[in-house]
Amino acid sequence: MKNIAVLVSGGGTNLQALLDAEKSGIIKSGKISLVISNKADAYALERAKNAGVETAVVLKKNYESREGFEGAIIDLLTKKKIDIIVLAGFMVILSENFTKKYPERIINVHPSLIPSFCGEGFYGLHVHEAALSYGVKVTGATVHFVNEIPDGGKIIMQKAVEIKEGDTPEILQKRVMEEAEWKILPMAVEKVASEL
Ligand code: GAR
Repeated sequence: MKNIAVLVSGGGTNLQALLDAEKSGIIKSGKISLVISNKADAYALERAKNAGVETAVVLKKNYESREGFEGAIIDLLTKKKIDIIVLAGFMVILSENFTKKYPERIINVHPSLIPSFCGEGFYGLHVHEAALSYGVKVTGATVHFVNEIPDGGKIIMQKAVEIKEGDTPEILQKRVMEEAEWKILPMAVEKVASEL
């Protein structure tokens, strides 16, 4: 059984998909044992508590440097003997100092088909705004390993989602989550956990 930590910043629907997948047995090679948020009011924390998973809040403003902030997260991960770190709507770009400690052990879900609409500045609704304003007819989600290049690590899984006439960023975000993110993230986590 691999020990899994999930890092979050917001609503935590991807965390919920992971918790549900553990319950239903889609994730069977790992256990979600810690949820860390960089926002004190993230609803994701409630989801973790409801599932009986330990939570921690690490606020950037409480540290003088990025090293201090990331060091506090690393301490928590080390104490819990975490094997796999899942970034599920974690809106912080981790430094190379952090990512090189966990090669092919940090997994991120991104709401587009990488290499489109990714990298710095492309997060949350902005990604869907960019896809709609470019006019692509197909988008999707990508689960990938995290390295020092934002959204640049090896791709683990992708799923395409159709863009429809009249889509708004909000409508498209919901479709990409339902049809792609919530499906491929748990599958990819199980794949990585089972192969580690
Ligand atoms: C998700 O769509 C996720 O793919 C995206 O933020 C949303 C978080 O929702 N992540 C990024 O844009 C990372 N670059 P959630 O908190 O409900 O899982």
